[in-house]
Order: sequence, then structure tokens, then C-alpha cells
Amino acid sequence: MDQLDQATNLRKIARQMDRGAAVLERGSGEQEMQEATAVTPQKTKIISITSGKGGVGKTTVSVNLAISLARAGKKVLLFDGDLGLANINVLLGIIPEHNIYEVLKGRKKLSEIIIQTSYGIDIIAGANGISQLANLNEQQRENFLDGLQEIGGYDILVVDTGAGVGANVIGLVLPADDILVVTTPEPTAITDAYGMIKSVVSHGPNGKIKLIVNRVPDAGEAKLVADRLISISNQFLKARIENLGFIFEEAAVQKSIRSQRPYVVLYPNAKSSACIKHIAARLVNAPLEEDAAGIYGFFQKIFNFRGKDE
Ligand SMILES: Nc1ncnc2c1ncn2[C@@H]1O[C@H](COP(=O)(O)OP(=O)(O)O)[C@@H](O)[C@H]1O
Ligand SMILES: [Mg+2]
Repeated sequence: MDQLDQATNLRKIARQMDRGAAVLERGSGEQEMQEATAVTPQKTKIISITSGKGGVGKTTVSVNLAISLARAGKKVLLFDGDLGLANINVLLGIIPEHNIYEVLKGRKKLSEIIIQTSYGIDIIAGANGISQLANLNEQQRENFLDGLQEIGGYDILVVDTGAGVGANVIGLVLPADDILVVTTPEPTAITDAYGMIKSVVSHGPNGKIKLIVNRVPDAGEAKLVADRLISISNQFLKARIENLGFIFEEAAVQKSIRSQRPYVVLYPNAKSSACIKHIAARLVNAPLEEDAAGIYGFFQKIFNFRGKDE
């Protein structure tokens, strides 16, 4: 599909979205109201996990955080949004029978590919090497959005994303209620995290960014890294960033990855497990904003973002 076609399709999708909003506002005719309520966003909190640099621990954090949130009493869906290097299922030791590719192809409904795991969370497995979520054609978007309407009952959607400030990642990050930026104490990771923060802030959402410093030797180092990044971001970008917590550099984390079982399960008494539990508690206690978009609204915004980008 050429760019012109895509732009036309995007405008069509945007118009459909606007009509939905107008019906909601007008509060007109019963049938219209029923149609509107069918797409009324459910108040599911969306937490996106991202970074500037790759390999800083996003997927490990996503998996262990999702499980910790479930243990804190929340119904959690974990979505593998790293469509380049999908590996949530690898960390969980699961071989998915179906993945998102079949939904995009229209062969399966989204609700049919959700995997219930023995860890108390449900997952949507990613697929390697398929087109980016923000870059789908109209039919694929429709297949995806149609399926979303059947997904309900989740308190939290955790989205693991790829690294970097490319449109495909940013588009997946911006509509979230909480944007968790993961960095390590490495200077390159910090610089790239700053780049990611700059990109997010330049697109609007300020006050949603929360920082996690992974692979630290001690709490002092974590505080140094977080303080520096937060104060520079505040000074130069006017960014308001919350220091959400840190995770230790630990052999238990690597051992758990090798055994394909999350460390909060395999090593519940490891220091890193306590750290993640602390981070989960902070997220659970933060109230959800009034204007939260829910799962459906989240993905609508992803597709819409791409539209503005072109
Ligand atoms: N807290 C930690 N302690 C030790 N090693 C870690 C820790 N977090 C991540 N790692 C290492 O970093 C690697 C990359 O982690 P991963 O979660 O896949 O990163 P990303 O998703 O950001 O690419 C892991 O395979 C593991 O070896
Ligand atoms: Mg990853």
C-alpha cells in the first residue's frame, strides 16, 4: 500500500473514532448509545515499559512486574509489543500455539490467542519479524481492533516494547497511563534514556514517566543515577519524572532467565524480587487518571499516532 492509501485509511479510522466520541457526547438515540457503549473504554490501567538502549532489562522487568502486580491482587494481561524481538514467552518457558500474527491475518480473534499461564497472568505472545504494530494496513488494524472489544476484565495491561525512539516504539509508549523508562547505570544507557524521555515529552505526555534503574550494585548508585537523570530532564526538558525504584544486578536474575522461569517465582527471597514487589506496590497505589483510555483507546491512539506521523 502506498503512502497516499495509508493516509486515506488513517483519516477514515480517525473519522470513525470521532463519530464514536460524538455519539458519546450527544447522548442521542438508544441504538447509537448501545453502539457507543460497545466501544466505551474499560478502565484498564496501561503500563508501557520502554528504554532508550536495548538490553537494559525491559522484558525481564515486564514479566516479573506483571506477576508481582497479579500477586498484589490485580488481573493482569501482559502484551509482547516488541514485534521485532518477541521473547516474553521465552522468559516464561511457554511455546505459544498462536500469536498476534494470526490475529493480524484475520485467522484468529485476539481473545482466542490469549494464553493463561500458571503464573497468574495472561499473555499475548508476540511474533518475530512481522510489521510493526503502528505500521499495519487497514484490514490488519480492523482485525486487531475488532478483537480488542472482546477483551475485558483486566485491571492492568503491561506492554513490553522495543528500545529506541523510533515511531513504532514511541507510538506504543505515548498512549500509556504509566510510561516506565528502564535504564542501567551505564553512561550509554543513561544518555539513551534521556533521549527517550526527550522524545516522549516532545510528543506531549509529561508527568507519566517513571524511572527504573536496573542492574545496580547498591541503593546509593541507583539514587545517583536516578537523581542525575531526573534533574537533567527537569532542567532541560521541564520533565516531571518519578523515581519508581531500582533492581539489583544479581546472579539470581540471570539464573532465572536461563531456567526460563521468572525470578519472583524461582527466587522469591532474592533482593531483586523484593525490589520488583516494591515497584509493583507503588504502581498499584497510584490512582488511575480520570481520562484513562482503556485497552481499546490505547490501541486506537497507537494507530492514530502513526497517522499524524505521516
Ligand atoms: N537485574 C539484573 N541482573 C543481572 N542481569 C540482568 C538483570 N536484568 C537484566 N539482566 C541481563 O540483561 C539481559 C537483557 O535483559 P532483557 O530483559 O532481555 O532486556 P531488554 O528487554 O531491555 O532487551 C538479560 O538476558 C540478563 O542477562
Ligand atoms: Mg526485550
